[in-house]
Amino acid sequence: MRLDKFLAQSSVGRRIEVRNYVKEGMVKVNGEVITEPAMEINESFDVIEYLDKVVHYTGKVYYMFNKPAGCITARKDAVNKTVFDYLDDAHMNGVFHVGRLDKDTEGLLLFTNDGEFEHKLMHPQKHVEKTYFFWALGTLEEEDIKALKQGVYIGKGEILTKPAKIEVDKHGVYEQFKNEISINNLESIDSTHYNQPMVLGYLTISEGRKHQVKRMLKAVGCYVVYLKRISIGGLTLDESLKKGQYRSLTEQEVKKLVE
Ligand code: URA
Repeated sequence: MRLDKFLAQSSVGRRIEVRNYVKEGMVKVNGEVITEPAMEINESFDVIEYLDKVVHYTGKVYYMFNKPAGCITARKDAVNKTVFDYLDDAHMNGVFHVGRLDKDTEGLLLFTNDGEFEHKLMHPQKHVEKTYFFWALGTLEEEDIKALKQGVYIGKGEILTKPAKIEVDKHGVYEQFKNEISINNLESIDSTHYNQPMVLGYLTISEGRKHQVKRMLKAVGCYVVYLKRISIGGLTLDESLKKGQYRSLTEQEVKKLVE
């Protein structure tokens, strides 16, 4: 196996990063500094060290995480809690998040050290579907639903969104639902707005533009107050994971996502 592949698959970093680590002399093979990332090594016999610590081969890893609201999808942040604060450091060196969720969005977020897996899920031309559960202020009438299904303009200079799927489950007013909604975006609701119309539903999109669900619903007059991603491709969030918990994907789940 190539040295850079070994390092990337042992959660040291992305392929591009570990190549630089090797070139910069941070990696030893059997006690000797090696600066050639393409060097062939034997993962069963050779001793590989990164920054003088022996690297154990982990292979490719895949995790599903139930993201809570209030943390940002980034490795580090000077002010906010990040998704990595919920993960066990020992297993997460070199692991990265697949796509992003907004700070106030909850639900399914994947992590891996497999760049090809990330590419398959994230590349715009792969059209992987992502389903979001939402509560929003506003109403969704027939014409809004038709517009969301066909595509809407969500920003200056942006092309129409790709056709989406929309399912509306409940319509009513805030007062009716206030005990069942966990609202992450509350500034716009106060006690004088109890009769504001509200809608609950599921939006499935196959793109990943910034704040896309919120902006699509805004384009038809709705303001999202709660958002949770519940599925990506054929993979649904394991609801036995509490907010902030994660687990490895099974082989079958990984296959479902990439086949
Ligand atoms: N769309 C959004 O608006 N926010 C997210 O976090 C994900 C999709």
